[in-house]
Amino acid sequence: MIRIILTMGVLVAGVTTVMGQADPIAARKNTMKDVAKANAEVGKIMKGEAPFKLETVQAALKVMADSAKTMPDLYPDTAKTGGETRALPKIWEAKADFTAQWAKFGKDATEAAAKITDEASFKASYGAVLRNCDACHDAYRAPKT
Ligand code: HEC
Repeated sequence: MIRIILTMGVLVAGVTTVMGQADPIAARKNTMKDVAKANAEVGKIMKGEAPFKLETVQAALKVMADSAKTMPDLYPDTAKTGGETRALPKIWEAKADFTAQWAKFGKDATEAAAKITDEASFKASYGAVLRNCDACHDAYRAPKT
């Protein structure tokens, strides 16, 4: 019985992996949407539309740090075009730099999460994480058509 359950677990994990790779364009767009959604919640705090809440900020930073781990693998050579992607060809020409930018984004999010304990530290540390969004988009994402 235990062996059957283990085998099933392996199979399910295998299927999930294959599905994830089947549509990396959709996967990376969805991951970015999750990041943007989490950041929008924090944006309300920044604009004074919502009270400061440490959990909201920490949750967003975790979504960002997690995205930085999975995103570099969602740009295989087979996913340069299609699926209404705005990924620029430069991603594949400068893969090492592109991957390094994800690593920096993940590091900045993790470091900010460690520093942010209250509203003052939030105001001091969150901006550095957000600078990564535009820096990467400017270099590697096509403008909206
Ligand atoms: C290291 C690079 C990188 C970083 C950092 C990054 N992005 Fe992106 N982002 C991209 C690329 C590349 C695309 C285009 C993906 C595609 O169309 O295939 C994208 C697409 C998007 C999209 C459009 C998703 C869709 O529906 O197609 C949103 C929204 C977005 N990013 C938000 C953010 C936010 C907010 C941050 C920062 C908190 C961020 N991104 C950080 C590279 C990055």
